[in-house]
Amino acid sequence: MHGMSPIRRLTVSPVDPDPALIAEAAATLRGGRLVAFPTETVYGLGANALDEAAIARIYAAKGRPESNPLIVHVADASMAARVVASWPASAEALAEAFWPGPLTLVLPRRPELPLAVTAGLPAVGVRVPAHPVARALIRAADLPIAAPSANMYMGVSPTTADHVAKGFGGRDADVLILDGGPATVGLESTVLDLTCPVPTVLRLGGLPVARLREVLGEVAVLAIEPGTASLPSPGLARRHYAPRARLVLVPDGDILVAEAARLLAAGARVGAMVRHAPMALPVGLALEVMPGEPAAYGAKLYAALHALDELRLDHLLVEAPPADEAWAAVHDRLRRAATP
Ligand code: TXA
Ligand code: MG
Repeated sequence: MHGMSPIRRLTVSPVDPDPALIAEAAATLRGGRLVAFPTETVYGLGANALDEAAIARIYAAKGRPESNPLIVHVADASMAARVVASWPASAEALAEAFWPGPLTLVLPRRPELPLAVTAGLPAVGVRVPAHPVARALIRAADLPIAAPSANMYMGVSPTTADHVAKGFGGRDADVLILDGGPATVGLESTVLDLTCPVPTVLRLGGLPVARLREVLGEVAVLAIEPGTASLPSPGLARRHYAPRARLVLVPDGDILVAEAARLLAAGARVGAMVRHAPMALPVGLALEVMPGEPAAYGAKLYAALHALDELRLDHLLVEAPPADEAWAAVHDRLRRAATP
């Protein structure tokens, strides 16, 4: 095992985690090491947000460019004051309405926050996760926890501890995994910038934009087309959340079945994600039948991508979801996954 640190795993109840195990994970964080933990969106790879060396370990473990800022997780809105320098009325209203939950607020950072957390930006993303294990961990550590999704850079985000273990497996990663069951939201948080004149969504996610409008009125949504050269939010790489298979969005089920049959006949390994099981299934097609409702689809999306990716497919055909706004976050992730 020369040079290899085994990945350790602690299994806890998702609703009522054992305080002794949480204390062990909290001590690991306080010691400057990494802990992967469940949130309601995806698993995070956490480190003490105030410890520059610990932050460097996150970037190294993920193979992530240091130009890509990290979200800081806190136990409640009052703890956000440890990392943000201002707290406008809009933040108060949003925290009241949606925290704990899948919403990240981008606000001016406090000077004592290591620059590496925000990748040098003057603002920091902060959120209060809803998962009882995440909240217990933050409280026990009594620290703001910086945590990106616990996947290798450009990989599919993890919604289970198994996804995390497989993603870092075989690498020299010193990571303690807290296994608190599957993430229920399944898509990353919605990232909202409150430092601009009109609050602006930088990343679509688990909290629908319509819900933000109910509280704020006007909300802008950054239109980030895959391939955009300059990125206002550095984490918005055009290819992201990507499986190893070549993913193609197909307008409907019939076209998908025909295309799958053609690729299979040519000897390729083919998988598909559809919203209705086709009447006649081509032999050899690996199929994931997805929910017909956007929140449930989002909750299953990464697990389906992980499962299909294990099959080492050449092609992954995905039936495009409906075009309405309720599906916007799912569309966003699928388009990024489809970008070669
Ligand atoms: O649901 C989530 O947000 C998960 C869980 C673990 O909380 N975290 C997550 O982190 O998705 P990550 O690092 O995979 O994506 C965070 C993204 C960045 O890539 C960037 O687009 C945006 O959030 N972001 C973070 N801090 C920012 C900042 N200071 N300014 C602008 N965008 C920021
Ligand atoms: Mg990520």
